[in-house]
Amino acid sequence: MCGIVGVTGNDNAVSILLEGLQKLEYRGYDSAGIYVNDLNGQDYLVKEKGRIADLKKAVGPEVHGTAGIGHTRWATHGVVSVANAHPQYSEDHRFYLVHNGVIENFKELKASYLSDVSFESQTDTEVVVQLLDLFVRTEGLNTKDAFIKTLGLLEGSSYAFLLVDSEDPDTLYVAKNKSPLLIGVGEECNVVCSDALAMLNVTHEFLELHDGEVVTIKPKSVEIEDMDGNAVSRDTFHVDMDAQDTDKGTYPYYMLKEIDEQPNVMRKLAQAYTKESGDADIDPEIIEALKNADRIHIVGAGTSYHAGLVGKKMFEKLTHIPTEVHVASEFAYDDPLLTKNPFFIFLSQSGETADSREVLVNVNARGFKSLTITNVVNSTLSREANYTILLNAGPEIAVASTKAYTAQIAVEAILAKAVGVAKEQVIAEDFDIRQQLGLVATGMQAIIDEKETIEKLADQYFVNSNRAFYIGRGIDQTVSLESALKLKEISYVQAEGFASGELKHGTIALIEEGTPVVGIITQKKTAGLTRSNLQETQSRGAITLTIVRNGLKKEDDTIVIPDIDEMITPLLSVVPAQLLAYYTSLNKGLDVDRPRNLAKSVTVE
Ligand code: G6P
Repeated sequence: MCGIVGVTGNDNAVSILLEGLQKLEYRGYDSAGIYVNDLNGQDYLVKEKGRIADLKKAVGPEVHGTAGIGHTRWATHGVVSVANAHPQYSEDHRFYLVHNGVIENFKELKASYLSDVSFESQTDTEVVVQLLDLFVRTEGLNTKDAFIKTLGLLEGSSYAFLLVDSEDPDTLYVAKNKSPLLIGVGEECNVVCSDALAMLNVTHEFLELHDGEVVTIKPKSVEIEDMDGNAVSRDTFHVDMDAQDTDKGTYPYYMLKEIDEQPNVMRKLAQAYTKESGDADIDPEIIEALKNADRIHIVGAGTSYHAGLVGKKMFEKLTHIPTEVHVASEFAYDDPLLTKNPFFIFLSQSGETADSREVLVNVNARGFKSLTITNVVNSTLSREANYTILLNAGPEIAVASTKAYTAQIAVEAILAKAVGVAKEQVIAEDFDIRQQLGLVATGMQAIIDEKETIEKLADQYFVNSNRAFYIGRGIDQTVSLESALKLKEISYVQAEGFASGELKHGTIALIEEGTPVVGIITQKKTAGLTRSNLQETQSRGAITLTIVRNGLKKEDDTIVIPDIDEMITPLLSVVPAQLLAYYTSLNKGLDVDRPRNLAKSVTVE
């Protein structure tokens, strides 16, 4: 949600900022801007509506600099416009600021302090930079002290700020609260970014930044201080990722690349977290903590929440521990009744989702144990939970999550097995997770190899449809929710995932001539029932399609997926749905990776 970049001490500041922003485009892409300074009195501010490609076109050949800041926006305060794009600046054009987050009391601050100042934007960010400038002008504070004083006035806010003073332009000032921000330490220059992948062409060494710190960055130094001016020392960490890992290569869109990567991710997870014997290979401390829990709470948002719904089925079946799944934004402000010894599992691809983090802060305050399952090393949720298990899925860049969903389910399955065995609820040999993940990888590949058939189905039934349904029972119902989400978020077809038996209690009224209804049928116990429910929609004009496990197939089934253990079928049944969504979006001529109104990493509540 909004991407921030900064650099000081490099003559290629413009291209470092623009390339960095390009990598961060997944965080927001409605407008963008850069401010650069050549340290010889020449500076440039370029802002543009639209994508980073539009900003690049707007940056003329004369624009050059050694230090600068940049931003790609997902609008919160104020419409999408050049004026509201960042960097925002003070009235006297001395200070330039980029911001990710929300300042809740910006109206009050504006009214109390800035009634004489003229504003150019509707943003909360401009209030912050004008306020800082006011403190410098009227109170004689230096830039850092004015910055600290301003930060002290921001109530209940989330922010990551990167500030530059055009009178001392090779010094960058940084502070954060709740929102992520990293400092990259280079050879003769230093950089700032919302996500390490933006700066891998400059450095692989990064410093994490904590809430309540202010950092002063010069070309050859990084000084971290707390708000009272005490120096803080911290080691860098190495990010072991190639810049090429973040390229889409010959693929037209990241989403297709990421769908294709899923078999490999399954193999990597089997390698990392299972043993030759078929047992799980997970940190024993995590297993012990879970084993002693009287209830498991899984917390997530969007696709991660859907992965949690699958997790519940697996944890309850294999561990016999009652498991609840929560939409993070709901749980954060509820006052749920908790048992004596609950254990919390946070699912988050990015590890940064503000809604989930809010829950974790409460969980920590109450002293409960937690585990984060995430794709991003050193992410906020990972740092703040007691334990972390990494998804090892490689960077996921398309806004619509695919490989993170399947990786989350695979990790939940491995973990559930480990705890089940530890609690003697499962006999180790009964569920050979290593072998199953091998079958999943092969099965995924077989489905992906049939993508042309799936593209035809998308063209025939979805591209010209305004509405669609996915239905199923039990674990298939959880996949129907994720399948519908994929379709709606990238193709704008209004899609619903539904418990197939519930459709007739109201929603079936929406079925019209030609409405596509996809039945997901992978469970022996409920296969016949879902088929009957499909039949009911067909009798009312629906076009019915099926995603069926091989062992349950019938003559007219549409997509047949290979047989694997029924409990982990979501790992296969979701893949055709991902491809249906992808081709529907593609063949409608939409930007598959950058759907309207969305962002991948949502760091505001
Ligand atoms: C955003 C993304 C979704 C994602 C959700 C949770 O809304 O658009 O694709 O599922 O955030 O993200 P997380 O990183 O916590 O899994």
